[in-house]
Amino acid sequence: MYVCNCNGIREREVRAAIDAGASRPAEIFRHKGCQPQCAKCVCEMRQMIDERREALAYAAE
Ligand code: FES
Repeated sequence: MYVCNCNGIREREVRAAIDAGASRPAEIFRHKGCQPQCAKCVCEMRQMIDERREALAYAAE
C-alpha cells in the first residue's frame, strides 16, 4: 500500500526509513531521495513515526 502517492513511497519503505533513523517526514523523503509535493502523506508519516516510537518505548519497559 502506498503512503505517498506523489513519490510512490510504500508503507514498508516508510517503516524501513524509520528503522534507519528517520524521525521526521522530511527525513523519510530524504531517505528516499525525493521531496514532498502535495504533502498529504505527512500526517500519516508522522503517525507511523509516533507508533514506532511507542512500540519501541513499550518494548524497552
Ligand atoms: S502524497 Fe506524498 S507528497 Fe503527495
